[in-house]
Amino acid sequence: PTIYVITPTYTRPVQKAELVRLANTFLHVVNLHWIVVEDSPRKTKLVANLLEKAGINFTHLNVESPRSLKVGLSRMPSHSPRGTTQRNLGLRWLRDNLNASNPPEGVVYFADDDNTYSLELFEEMRYTRTVSVWPVAFVGGLRYESPRVSPSGRVVGWKTVFDPNRPFAIDMAGFAISLRLILERPQANFRLEGIKGGYQETSLLKDLVTMDGLEAKAANCTKVLVWHTRAERPTLVNEGKRGFTDLNIEV
Ligand code: UGA
Ligand code: MN
Repeated sequence: PTIYVITPTYTRPVQKAELVRLANTFLHVVNLHWIVVEDSPRKTKLVANLLEKAGINFTHLNVESPRSLKVGLSRMPSHSPRGTTQRNLGLRWLRDNLNASNPPEGVVYFADDDNTYSLELFEEMRYTRTVSVWPVAFVGGLRYESPRVSPSGRVVGWKTVFDPNRPFAIDMAGFAISLRLILERPQANFRLEGIKGGYQETSLLKDLVTMDGLEAKAANCTKVLVWHTRAERPTLVNEGKRGFTDLNIEV
């Protein structure tokens, strides 16, 4: 099965570093197709060149997030949902370009550009029948959040402090969906508006699966294989001083 990885990304000082790190990871994964969706009005040279040179199967898309979408969608009050419009475009690309009546074997994963991904994670998700789930480190104010798994291996709830009663109390990095399911349910998308903080993942998953259909991976959700890392914003206070800047150098 092919792993279709959908990555939203946007221009900022650390963007190239993040994408290089991801590319270096994905290069070790067989049968991976990287769908990179820029949050921008046009595709940038930086991302286009990086993808061309990376040696990974890829599709390069772009769509700008709608401005002033300050709904209560994020876990933090009054910040816009990030990457949502881009993930939906990635889903649309799959539905427009792959044959729903005879879908290739595959799985779809939403990989933000700043997280850290173990190579083992991709082999855990590769044989997903419906939706597979696993723990994610450094989210929700915890070392890790995890699906709650019964002794018989069924997902029965969520080990989170933040709103564990959400239908799917799981970070974007904590699940993968079979391609067949994505193509069979063409209406299923992330919702941008009118949902509460922490319900972004639920807004998609509720249209695809119920809790008892989830597949617990990573040794019944006892292993952490993905980390919600975030790069420190670099200090650039001396840029432009005494001639110290050269925008012709790509960073
Ligand atoms: C958390 C979740 O892990 C994300 O999956 C969720 O999208 C996000 O919250 C949210 O608030 O909506 P966090 O680390 O806070 O993640 O978000 P970022 O990593 O800053 O952004 C998530 C993805 O969207 C990244 O791949 C980032 O490159 C992209 N993004 C971010 C954009 O495409 N445009 C932006 O303006 C900001
Ligand atoms: Mn992030």
